[in-house]
Amino acid sequence: MMAGAHTGNQQEEVPLRIGIAGLGRIVERIHLPVLVSRPDVRIAGLFDTDEERADAVARLFGQGPVCTSIDDLCRQDLDIVLVACPNSLHAALSIAALDAGLHVLCEKPMATNIADAELMRATARRQQRRLMIALPNRFRPEVRALQQAIAEGRLGAIRSMRCGWLRRAGVPGAGTWFTDRRQAGGGVLTDLGTHLLDLALWLTERPELLTALCVVERSDAANTEASWYRPTAAAPTAEQDVETGARGFAIFAGPFDLFFEVSWVCAVPNDATYLRVLGERGYAEIETLFGLSPAGDRPAHPLRLWIDGQLVLPPVQGAASTRQPYEHLWDYFIDGIRDARDFTPWLDDAVETVRLIDHFYQAAGRV
Ligand SMILES: NC(=O)c1ccc[n+]([C@@H]2O[C@H](COP(=O)([O-])OP(=O)(O)OC[C@H]3O[C@@H](n4cnc5c(N)ncnc54)[C@H](O)[C@@H]3O)[C@@H](O)[C@H]2O)c1
Repeated sequence: MMAGAHTGNQQEEVPLRIGIAGLGRIVERIHLPVLVSRPDVRIAGLFDTDEERADAVARLFGQGPVCTSIDDLCRQDLDIVLVACPNSLHAALSIAALDAGLHVLCEKPMATNIADAELMRATARRQQRRLMIALPNRFRPEVRALQQAIAEGRLGAIRSMRCGWLRRAGVPGAGTWFTDRRQAGGGVLTDLGTHLLDLALWLTERPELLTALCVVERSDAANTEASWYRPTAAAPTAEQDVETGARGFAIFAGPFDLFFEVSWVCAVPNDATYLRVLGERGYAEIETLFGLSPAGDRPAHPLRLWIDGQLVLPPVQGAASTRQPYEHLWDYFIDGIRDARDFTPWLDDAVETVRLIDHFYQAAGRV
């Protein structure tokens, strides 16, 4: 029987067993530190195609066993697989784990094309396993407070959203898979845009897309690598053929319209993230900084609301630390597995985010 299945009072005593496919920086910096600190889970398998990397991560965290393939990983006694490899492999590895009867938490972006995303969802349905995409910004306190205000109708019907995530110098891994379209699916629109577009679709309950416009651009400036990027042993690839900036506008049924701007490299003074949401009764503004970048401010009062013209400061418990959104994400995923929660709406959001990104790339002439 699956370790996390309901077993009455014993439920808390049986740790869920997690295998990890892809042992790069996000796993070393975030997932493994979060997971090894939880008493209710146990690491039960580690796999990376870079064997030296796998051994190094296993030694660093005192965890294992190190597996030789995704199939070998899935043959271990597992409940969950975390997929955290390059984007173009998310679908194949997630589907292998789902087909082995395991639940999957897959890193964002869900997939690099809509066909893969739909196949992942169909496999989860067929196997009756949970599949969730790691979109940690849903768990930031200011984003939670905004979502709650919208769900309670305090802003009225949402008509418009403006959002952006701009980095001064923040290319993650120039010359690695991150900047190779074949492996990453795309550049900053895929990497940072996924987070913003997911929030837009989640906050507005997935409205029907009517039209989309987009421009993408590529900066050839020198020294644009993120200062916080730490190369792993993985061999760099040669291609650097993805966009470093993108701006887009879309109109949805409702009507609802959306503007976004994302950049890995641009002339802002500091890295920053913003969301501005206009409803029929109110207006909300988030000014913060998502992600791992230390360059920028995470203000103490990141969310401000104006309801019928009056400023309201909803109680948001300080600024999110880098790790906090992932701690809550794992709480949500693990509780959801234990409680047999229906993850379908969030999965549908993730599929529609991949579709919307496809539309933006098509509108930009990048087919
Ligand atoms: N949710 C977030 O906010 C967030 C933040 C950072 C990264 N990510 C995502 O996490 C994923 C990994 O990013 P990263 O920064 O750790 O990258 P990384 O390059 O540091 O690590 C990727 C690892 O995958 C390994 N790998 C390659 N092919 C593999 C395969 N077939 N099977 C198993 N392992 C394989 C590589 O050897 C490498 O160790 C990406 O999809 C990225 O978009 C998400």
